[in-house]
Amino acid sequence: MLYSEKVMDHFTNPRNVGEIEDADGIGEVGNAKCGDIMKMYIKVNDGVITDVKFKTFGCGAAVATSSIATEMIKGATLDEALKLTNKAVVEALDGLPAVKLHCSVLAEQAIKSALSDYYSRQGIDPLPIVGEIGECEACH
Ligand code: FES
Repeated sequence: MLYSEKVMDHFTNPRNVGEIEDADGIGEVGNAKCGDIMKMYIKVNDGVITDVKFKTFGCGAAVATSSIATEMIKGATLDEALKLTNKAVVEALDGLPAVKLHCSVLAEQAIKSALSDYYSRQGIDPLPIVGEIGECEACH
């Protein structure tokens, strides 16, 4: 079996799909090579992510990783969300085939992009906190 049960579960029944109209931060990242796009919306209250939704025009692994990533950051502090790595996301899914590892980077970058937008809206320079988001290195 190429994909774990968890991957199949999150792919066929993704959590937190959609958008948040009055989002406090919106992130959008794209993968130039495969053309996949991910959009992430967050709602923040008192430094805690109270709601998160995502939309993707991407592959199954991108859907599954974003789905579980949204579950992992919902209720988390901004700091905790920033520390979420694609590795942790892949582990939570019980692994991904090597050729699909880069898809999990899209989820991590979308979260960082949404946080970066959130800080900008607060009048805080996001660069020292979030850092460069850049493109998915695994895909180049
Ligand atoms: Fe592009 Fe998976 S193939 S994100």
